[in-house]
Amino acid sequence: MSKADLDWPNLDFGYHKTDYNIRHIWRDGAWDEGVLTSDETIPLHIAATCLHYGQECFEGLKAYETKSGDVVVFRIDENAKRMIRSCQRLHMAPVPEELFIQAVFRVVNANRKYVPPHGTGASLYTRPLVLGAGPRIGVRPAEEYLFLVLVTPVGPYFKTGFKPMALKIEDKYDRAAPCGVGHIKVGGNYAAGLHPSLLARQEGYADALFLDAKEKKYIDECAPANFFGITKDGRYVTPESESILPSITNKSLVTLAEELGLRPERRPMPVEEIFDLVEAGCCGTAAVITPVGSITYGDRKVVYSKDGKPGRYCVALYERLTAIQVGDAPDPYGWVHVIPPE
Ligand SMILES: Cc1ncc(COP(=O)(O)O)c(C=O)c1O
Repeated sequence: MSKADLDWPNLDFGYHKTDYNIRHIWRDGAWDEGVLTSDETIPLHIAATCLHYGQECFEGLKAYETKSGDVVVFRIDENAKRMIRSCQRLHMAPVPEELFIQAVFRVVNANRKYVPPHGTGASLYTRPLVLGAGPRIGVRPAEEYLFLVLVTPVGPYFKTGFKPMALKIEDKYDRAAPCGVGHIKVGGNYAAGLHPSLLARQEGYADALFLDAKEKKYIDECAPANFFGITKDGRYVTPESESILPSITNKSLVTLAEELGLRPERRPMPVEEIFDLVEAGCCGTAAVITPVGSITYGDRKVVYSKDGKPGRYCVALYERLTAIQVGDAPDPYGWVHVIPPE
């Protein structure tokens, strides 16, 4: 099949129209068979709970083309499980793992010509979401839900791509609270981060790095990604916190860090530790690994990259992770799943 006519190597991380999205409705206790459609809009009741009470959650994963022309996804079972946890916390109808996987496979297959060619560095970003579609005016969960998966071909999330970026520690605004919903992927967390992220960007930073909401002493995460640091004595340190999203990329990097001889540590990470790190990075499906070149904390600043180049561990982790994801390296962990063509 011929590919869509797109400038693959220069794609941004934006919405680019494709041919189909898929929708399933949950009504009377069950999900329906789903339908592929080219409609980019959804009919929604004006009193739908997603609009009024934030009953909405989503996921994000990427489909890649391998050298041999297969289309693959990375650890999709983890995304499916995380979305179940998000639905449960917001008291929404959970999407069973098999249905989640089948819907992603169907919509990717229907949009194969938008899967970026191997070697372009781009991928087909896949965005499943569940929203409360039934009407309510009292604060109660909906009785009807919509599960939708849209896809869009994307390039790097941060404009710099795989180049060190500058972060600013945010200590005036919180993104999420302990025992709240920071550990699941719900729209409200991102709404809370929009303003501080924008302020950081206006000051010339790539994004804000949030602290824990309770004590403002520990690093939480960067707006769309987890944070990690490499210490002088070869440890891969990443924050443990109740209010951050458990990143599938970070979980994978913990494994790969060990392969590289780094000792992984997941624990509360005092913000003062940033001054002792030799490298730092943000990681996630969208960010992949984006090296951190500097962090500004109040009137102090730590610089990890003086020559504008990423550090050697960020490079090694990035190369190892992406080689597995796009099928260039064997996958000893069973992380990569081929989407069978229909
Ligand atoms: C707030 C936040 N943290 C971390 C991540 C990284 O998670 P993952 O690696 O599962 O994409 C994301 C992106 O999904 C995110 O939005």
